[in-house]
Amino acid sequence: MFFLGTQKVNAQGHLEIGGCDCVELARKFGTPLYVLDEALIRRNCRDYRAAFERRYPHVEIIYATKACLTTALCRIMQQEGLSLDTASAGELFTALKAEFPAEKIYLHGNFKSTRELEMALSARVGRIVVDSELELEQLNALAARRGQVADILLRVTPAVDPHTHEYIQTGKVDTKFGLGIGTGAAMQGVKRALSLKHLRLHGFHSHIGSQILDVHFFEMGAELLVAFIKAVAEATGFEAKELNVGGGLGIKYVSEHKPPTKEEFAEALVGAVKRACAKYRVALPKLMLEPGRSIIGDAGITLYTVGPIKDINGVRTYVSVDGGLSDNPRPALYQARYSLILANRPLDDEKQVVTVVGKHCESDMLFENVTLPKLQPGDILAVQSTGAYNFSMSSNYNRFPRPAVVLVHDGRAELIVRRQTLEDLIAQDIIPERLR
Ligand SMILES: Cc1ncc(COP(=O)(O)O)c(C=O)c1O
Repeated sequence: MFFLGTQKVNAQGHLEIGGCDCVELARKFGTPLYVLDEALIRRNCRDYRAAFERRYPHVEIIYATKACLTTALCRIMQQEGLSLDTASAGELFTALKAEFPAEKIYLHGNFKSTRELEMALSARVGRIVVDSELELEQLNALAARRGQVADILLRVTPAVDPHTHEYIQTGKVDTKFGLGIGTGAAMQGVKRALSLKHLRLHGFHSHIGSQILDVHFFEMGAELLVAFIKAVAEATGFEAKELNVGGGLGIKYVSEHKPPTKEEFAEALVGAVKRACAKYRVALPKLMLEPGRSIIGDAGITLYTVGPIKDINGVRTYVSVDGGLSDNPRPALYQARYSLILANRPLDDEKQVVTVVGKHCESDMLFENVTLPKLQPGDILAVQSTGAYNFSMSSNYNRFPRPAVVLVHDGRAELIVRRQTLEDLIAQDIIPERLR
């Protein structure tokens, strides 16, 4: 068991986060419940900025909203001086509704719809990160029709294999994202971008993967990207002023995970960029990063209530909780592992090994073979590090309403997303006339 951020055991012997008692949070807001530790989110933002700004002349930290996005979170990112990476009309809409400054918003995506490109042009977002030659043509035509020039980065893939789960590796040769450097597609894309009058190319973007715990992969990626900047300058005369190296820094889900600190990450990445720029005699570009998980992942927990416990003698003990696949699909998608704390008796030392399952119509394995104090129905379980890619990947499978999200800070708990109601679930359903 380990504690993150403001978590501790309080005088009642309960798990506390952001000065709030988790048993009390579960009682007040119901379970399953996502809880976000505001102080840790802000500390992660500040640590990123401090680590990079101290080492590099011109840095922009861009929060990857796919990790977790609500309008309140946009406000926190704005207050902390971060920009936003959006990858859909919905994410862009959320950022704009929160009155986030458009010039600090990036739009990503390997298949942006015309609507998404139009939205980005009309809001005048800071950069559109173009993913394909087709998109170059489409964006140029749309911008021309509006009498605008779109500011773009080109997404390229440097062929780094970061040994993370294969579904979250995105910078390899075999990926749907971006234009391959090795295949020549990236150079061809640059030439095309430079020839189009309604596009203004500023530089390159690349994202090599996610939950990366070894900084070496980022160093390799940076070297390849700077080499590409040099090759482009030689072939076309275009000197990239911006280099966006994506996100991907891993976090601690289980005790074996030893993620690099932001300082270690910055030291390695900035060192690699500076060395490569010196080697290839390239001027230092503005450096951008797009962390998602490492800003919000360890700041979130999910609270569940324990239900039936099924002990199959000599086989295993199943513990059912009142959520599952719909609020956390990551164990099913990526065999992701998590650490658990019994929120109402964290220090109880009578231990047992159990498998925690959800309540969906699947085996819905959440956490296999975890060691916890002896559980009883009604206990409150807290799952660590669920801040990223849990709420944002949640679904209404089995018509489960999506859980609420609560922001905790200095003993205050505030709803930032209300729990869906049963009425919400049928709000978009239509019964055609002939079936009435
Ligand atoms: C383009 C891009 N940027 C940033 C991120 C954020 O990655 P992470 O949450 O691992 O930091 C992702 C995640 O998939 C991504 O695809």
